[in-house]
Amino acid sequence: MSRDLSLVKDVLLTAALKGGKILKEHFQSEKVEAKTKSGHADLVTNADFKTQEAVIQILSRGLPGVQIIGEEKENEEASGEVIYVDPLDGTLNFFHGQRQFAVSIGYWMDRTPVAGVVFNPVDDDLFFAVSGQGAFRNGRPIRGSPNRLLSQSVLATGWPYDKKELPRVLKSLERLLPVTQEVRVWGTAALAMCYLAGGTLEGYWEWGLYPWDIAAGVVIAREAGCRITSIDGGPFDLKQGAILATNGHVHEEMVRYLREE
Ligand code: IPD
Ligand code: CA
Ligand code: CA
Repeated sequence: MSRDLSLVKDVLLTAALKGGKILKEHFQSEKVEAKTKSGHADLVTNADFKTQEAVIQILSRGLPGVQIIGEEKENEEASGEVIYVDPLDGTLNFFHGQRQFAVSIGYWMDRTPVAGVVFNPVDDDLFFAVSGQGAFRNGRPIRGSPNRLLSQSVLATGWPYDKKELPRVLKSLERLLPVTQEVRVWGTAALAMCYLAGGTLEGYWEWGLYPWDIAAGVVIAREAGCRITSIDGGPFDLKQGAILATNGHVHEEMVRYLREE
């Protein structure tokens, strides 16, 4: 099925803005209730569910027949035209009153990234991209950083919920921290990808992700000229759960540092 991309764009933006409004209303409010999922750091709140419901309603009304994979719902295997929804990326930040969180909605066709929106409602920070049309932050075009030197780069990664995964994350930090300016952990994969796209960091890698964490960020970063592969530099696969995304210039060097002997 081929859709009018300007309709896709409008529907994604409408859904993200509505979702962001709900998150903002709940942020730092007594209305928020949380429970744990896979572990003590993996939270879900009533705001996650409420936002997901509103976002999915807008998407399915605006784009009838589209398959939607949402983090907080039962999902069936989907192929062809699929929208990945993370109603609240950065739930732990949200719950602790930290501002870095976002709604993330990625539209893919036949395993190819087509459109994505990531919206941080407390900073009113909106990232958007459609394949072949460039990436935008609050309506202004964005590009990845031109920096070629790892020694002058800021990178980002994430902590895994599954603590069995910690050794390989710590090993990668042990290798990369000494040769870069700094490594940040924001607790939101979607925004980390957007900050990369906006040129304020040079590289991002993470294991243990789900498609909804990065489905939108991949479109936005690619459209901003960034390079996206698996962590060993091979082809990127959304379902693999791992990503290396960079401004392109520091990519090969990062692959060398990340390679597990
Ligand atoms: C998480 C965030 C975090 C990343 C985790 C994700 P959630 O998403 O993106 O940065 O390290 O892997 O699961 O649970 O806040 O939607
Ligand atoms: Ca997420
Ligand atoms: Ca989430």
